[in-house]
Amino acid sequence: MAKRRRLIVANWKMHGRLTSGVTLARDIVEKAEANKPLEFDMVLCPPATLIWSIGEAIAGSPILLGAQDCHTATHGAYTGDLSAAMFTDLGCRYVIVGHSERRSQHGESSELVAKKVEAAQLAGLTPIVCVGETAEQLQSGSTGEIIRQQVIASLPENLKKGQLVIAYEPIWAIGTGQQPAPRDIAAVHKIIRGALGAAGEIVPVIYGGSVAPLNALALFQEHEIDGALVGSASLNSDGFWAIAEASR
Ligand code: PGA
Repeated sequence: MAKRRRLIVANWKMHGRLTSGVTLARDIVEKAEANKPLEFDMVLCPPATLIWSIGEAIAGSPILLGAQDCHTATHGAYTGDLSAAMFTDLGCRYVIVGHSERRSQHGESSELVAKKVEAAQLAGLTPIVCVGETAEQLQSGSTGEIIRQQVIASLPENLKKGQLVIAYEPIWAIGTGQQPAPRDIAAVHKIIRGALGAAGEIVPVIYGGSVAPLNALALFQEHEIDGALVGSASLNSDGFWAIAEASR
């Protein structure tokens, strides 16, 4: 498969206050301005409270904005929740859905994730749908089947195939410093493409889980890996930029 323009996504999770978040975004914009035109797409997904301010900090730059989750409904009596359209209002282009931390800490099922995908696409956002196996599933040799099932169950029937990203994030690799070998990641990405059917040709499949400047080059040797979803290493502008540079 021909090499695509890669997608590098920062998942800040619940990190960043007003000053530190804006400073981090400005540092990244500075690097982007110095390296234009960029040979990759870069998306920052800060906590919802910072999206407006980060949007101002990146305005006019090639950096794009995303959210970390959204509700299934457009509006309604859902105290504390935020709809996909609310993020569109703030200039977001992407939204992460079905992250394993949402699945495990908030009991989100693949069926719920599929509804979020539908809501996100309806609002004009590109959902970044996360799937991944646990350490036990890896050990039992069921990774391929688990991932295939998760991909199918996490997507709605009326999917817009041109407006989707899948992130393969082995749960055991998130925040642990551990990672599958790049060729094993590539093998799972192929399984994901297979589960997507014809859409597998066009949907970017990115990898997340302990992506760091030191392992990024080896990851991006694999043409199957269309980009990275970066957690802790995205909180440092030099490190995050080094990962993006390695993707060229
Ligand atoms: P990590 O997180 O890079 O800190 O492992 C990745 C993620 O959870 O998206």
